[in-house]
Amino acid sequence: MSNKSHFNSGHRAMNWLNKNGVSHSSEVKFDIPKKTYHGVFTEDALNFLKKLPDSSIQLILIDPPYNLDLAKWDTFSNYMGWAKGWLKEAERVLTDNGNFVIFGGYQYQDVKKGDLLEIMHHLRHNTSLLFVNLIIWYYKTGMGAHRFFSNRHEEILWYGKTKKYYFNLDSVRIPFDEKTKEAYKRDKRLNPASIDKGKNPTNVWQIERLIANSRERVGHPTQKPLEVIRRLVRGLSYPGSLVLDFFAGSGTTGRVCIEEDRHSILVDNDKKTLEYFNKHLENMRENGNSKQHEIILNPDLKEFLKKTDKKESSFSKKEAKNAELPHD
Ligand SMILES: C[S@@+](CC[C@H](N)C(=O)[O-])C[C@H]1O[C@@H](n2cnc3c(N)ncnc32)[C@H](O)[C@@H]1O
Repeated sequence: MSNKSHFNSGHRAMNWLNKNGVSHSSEVKFDIPKKTYHGVFTEDALNFLKKLPDSSIQLILIDPPYNLDLAKWDTFSNYMGWAKGWLKEAERVLTDNGNFVIFGGYQYQDVKKGDLLEIMHHLRHNTSLLFVNLIIWYYKTGMGAHRFFSNRHEEILWYGKTKKYYFNLDSVRIPFDEKTKEAYKRDKRLNPASIDKGKNPTNVWQIERLIANSRERVGHPTQKPLEVIRRLVRGLSYPGSLVLDFFAGSGTTGRVCIEEDRHSILVDNDKKTLEYFNKHLENMRENGNSKQHEIILNPDLKEFLKKTDKKESSFSKKEAKNAELPHD
């Protein structure tokens, strides 16, 4: 049987809008900010969230402890009791067009309770968040196994706050290779402009994990690849919006936000985040990033939010559009 989503009313409505040149109600007209602001808070995630006003964050992107005993911060006696606190706050602080992304893993066989499955169950039964996608992040390398199939994926959950959740598919499309492009262009049923735009990356992403000596590495044991974070930031937030990562680790999300013209808030209760983040910034500068940005350590939250609310722009609409095209 085909996937139900292929026949749903939302899918048909989007086709109708596209055909008739009408924009979706979630569309946002944004300007590229001249400068972005990034607040780094050394604090407990839940304490921090409680201080944030309602509807103040456009994208929450978190890679929380998976409860796998990988480190002291990854060990819990009541994982869900703890997670419920920040899940509730996350829903409250999202804007109506906001998105919530949660990385996670599963507990297999008879190990202790508390994993992504329980988070999904909790969100379905206790919040109004809309489940948009379960993304399978697939990679080719990893540990071997003998009593089960070797694991080669992690999961990324994507929830929208309301039906108006923001999504910019064009900013994350994958270009077709030249041969496929030529073949598709010969097919008169297909629209050449759509072929040039590239394809939907789908909900299975093949992106390699960071190997031990990867140049991207900054020392954090569970650092995520820039490419994974970039696709989420580009597709689910817009330039000038505010992105929050309250389990920031090395600050990968912050680095991507600088490069992609979003403001960000990074929260981690480990002071080492500052060291790791500095290394990210060094790598970023070595790669030639010249985007104007300001990093503020433990700022006054109210003042910081005011800065990110400013609507400054010196770019033309054309430049703004180009800046959103994939450059990977
Ligand atoms: C899986 S790591 C995030 C890695 C990050 N995505 C990256 O690319 O570097 C989770 C982080 O959550 C932090 N953490 C754990 N419990 C926390 C809490 N209660 N409040 C704030 N941070 C916490 C840990 O210190 C750790 O750095």
